[in-house]
Amino acid sequence: MRRATITGLGKYLPEKVMTNKDLEEIVDTSDDWIKARTGIEERRIAADDVTASDLGVKAAEEALEKAGLKADQLDLIIAATITPDMMFPATACLIQDRIGASKAAAFDLEAGCSGFVYAVSVASNFIESGMYDNVMVVGTEVLSKILNWEDRGTCILFGDGAGAAVLQATDKGGILASDLGSDGSGADTLYMPGGGSLKPASHQTVDNREHYLYMEGNQVFKFAVKTMGKASLKVLKKAGLNKDDVDLLVPHQANTRIIASSAKRLKLEPEQVFVNLNKYGNTSAASVPIALAEAEEKGLVKNGDTVVLVAFGAGLTWASAVLEW
Ligand code: ACO
Repeated sequence: MRRATITGLGKYLPEKVMTNKDLEEIVDTSDDWIKARTGIEERRIAADDVTASDLGVKAAEEALEKAGLKADQLDLIIAATITPDMMFPATACLIQDRIGASKAAAFDLEAGCSGFVYAVSVASNFIESGMYDNVMVVGTEVLSKILNWEDRGTCILFGDGAGAAVLQATDKGGILASDLGSDGSGADTLYMPGGGSLKPASHQTVDNREHYLYMEGNQVFKFAVKTMGKASLKVLKKAGLNKDDVDLLVPHQANTRIIASSAKRLKLEPEQVFVNLNKYGNTSAASVPIALAEAEEKGLVKNGDTVVLVAFGAGLTWASAVLEW
C-alpha cells in the first residue's frame, strides 16, 4: 500500500536565549513558579527583523538535505503558522521562492499549535492519493512578536523556532493513520482579536492592545488534558494498534503537566515520552517537528518503531498521527 513517510527532518532555533531569570526582570514572576507550573527553563527569541519565513527557510533547507532531495523536486509546501510574515500572501509561498522550490504549490495551514500535525495529515493524504510524491511540511513561529510582555500569564510560556519534514511515498511503514478534530466553541479561550476582518488594524486596536495573544490558561489546560490522551488512543485504534505498541510519544510541548497526563493515559514510562520544552518553551506549530528532529538526532527513534505525534491548540483544535519509523 502506498503511504507517506518522513524522509528528512530539520529544525532551526534563534540564537538568543531568554531564561526565566530574564523574565523576572520584565514581569512579576519567578523561575520557581515557571518551572513548577510549566516545566520551562528558557526559550529562544528571534531578533526584531527576523520573520517566520526566515526561520522556516532554515529548517526546510536542513530537512531537504537530510532527505537527499533538491528543492525543485518538491511538489508542495505547507507552512503551519499562527505568526505568518503577513496576512497574505502565504508564508509557504515566501519559503517556496527562497528555497528555490520552483515546481511546488504552496499554502499555509492555520490550526494553532496543532498546525504541524494537521499539515502532516494533509500531506500524507496528497501522497497516498498519488497526486504528489514529495511534500515539505514546515511549522514556523515567531510568537515573541505577538506576546504582551506585560502579561505574565502568557509571555512566560512561548518561544520562537521552526521545524520541517520532507514527506515522500513508501510501500513500507510510514504514516499509518492520522486523526484531526476541532471545537470552535472554545475559540475565545486562545486568540488574537486584532488585525483580521473582525477588528482591522487601527489606532484603536493598537491602543486597546488587540494585536496580542490572549489566553484563558485554565480553560486551555483542561481542554488539553482531556484531549491529548484521547486523540492518541483514537489514532492508535485507527491504525489497528494499542497503547502497548507505542515506542515513543512526541507530544506538543506546552506544559510538562499536560504531557505527563497524556503519558499516564497511555501508560508510558518517562523515557518513552520526548520532552524538550524546558529549553524552548511552547513554539506552537513548530514544537512537534522540532521535538521530532531532536528525538531523531538523539537516536531515540529506530527503524520499525511506532511513534505517536499529538498536539492541541487554538481553534480549539487537536491532531494526532501514528508512524512506523
Ligand atoms: N508567575 C507567577 N504567578 C503567576 C504567573 C506567572 N507567570 N501566571 C499566573 N500566575 C498566578 C496567577 O495570577 C494565580 O494567582 P492567584 O491564585 O493569586 O489568582 C496563580 O498564579 C495560579 O494561576 P493559574 O492560571 O491558575 O495557574 P495554572 O496552574 O493554571 O498555570 C498556565 C497557568 C501555566 C498558563 C496553565 O494554565 C497552562 O499551561 N495552560 C495551558 C496553556 C497552553 O498550553 N497554551 C498553549 C496552547 S497552544 C496554541 O495554539 C498557541
